[in-house]
Amino acid sequence: MLRKKDLLGLKDMTAEEICDILDHTDGMKAAFTSGRPLENLRGKCVSTLFYENSTRTRNSFETAARFLGARTTSVAVSTSSVQKGESLIDTGKTLDALGTDLIVIRHSMAGTPDLLAANVQASVVNAGDGMNEHPTQSLLDLYTMKEKFGTVKGLKVVIVGDVKHSRVARSNIWALGKLGAETIVVAPYTLLPRGIEELGCEVETDLEEALIGANVVMGLRIQLERQKAGLFPSLGEYSEQFGINADRIYGICENALVMHPGPINRGVEITSEVADGENSAICEQVTNGVAVRMAVMDMLVGGLQ
Ligand code: CP
Repeated sequence: MLRKKDLLGLKDMTAEEICDILDHTDGMKAAFTSGRPLENLRGKCVSTLFYENSTRTRNSFETAARFLGARTTSVAVSTSSVQKGESLIDTGKTLDALGTDLIVIRHSMAGTPDLLAANVQASVVNAGDGMNEHPTQSLLDLYTMKEKFGTVKGLKVVIVGDVKHSRVARSNIWALGKLGAETIVVAPYTLLPRGIEELGCEVETDLEEALIGANVVMGLRIQLERQKAGLFPSLGEYSEQFGINADRIYGICENALVMHPGPINRGVEITSEVADGENSAICEQVTNGVAVRMAVMDMLVGGLQ
């Protein structure tokens, strides 16, 4: 049971709380994939407040909320009163006054969901804050691993790509450590933040070495704008050294589950052959995202309160 008003990150959650969410997701996935809508959030209102672009996360939360019977509203930040200078807290208080029970927020500034949560009555779910955390992405990743292997404990998980700027990497490193997995992050030195090991992972710069014995290979998006900052010489050189390709997957860890939070840059951090191949869980991750978000919202404001 989640005895909290908000879901802001996985760093401060216990393994038991994370496992409770994953266990509750089973029933949600069964309902969602069978097309049998639930009533758990009937009479509730879920609002999305995205200050950054999104395809998967925003649609996933809205799909999940409606599937549970909630009313949904969406603040289009680019055409809202945010553009007239309205503060985050005033926007949150406005959503409270409109009867919102749960706000899903994405913002480029780390800590913004915490600030909002401290100032509104509604529950707040972090849908990505800067380089800090993306907790529901990690929860859907954990669920996808658990579905495939039965448990997360003891898995060797290799996370490769732009670790430095990745909130997905941080949430996963925290959570995988709590659940007893071995996490190895792989990137050029310029895309590895100093001290990342202190979060509970190992660091490797040789991808092929890291892939030996891997159960899960998770690619991270190379944020193309980083190339302008000179953090790696060229996309071609990056792909050659750090790209997830068929030779590496089928040659070194042929049974590994291939994951990626999306959006993907085909031919940069992962080839189409692998992204669309039989080891890929990328589409399943998206489906599991709806189920995990149904579980989270139900546990925060729904029938299990
Ligand atoms: N994985 C993820 O957060 O994707 P979006 O940016 O499309 O929401």
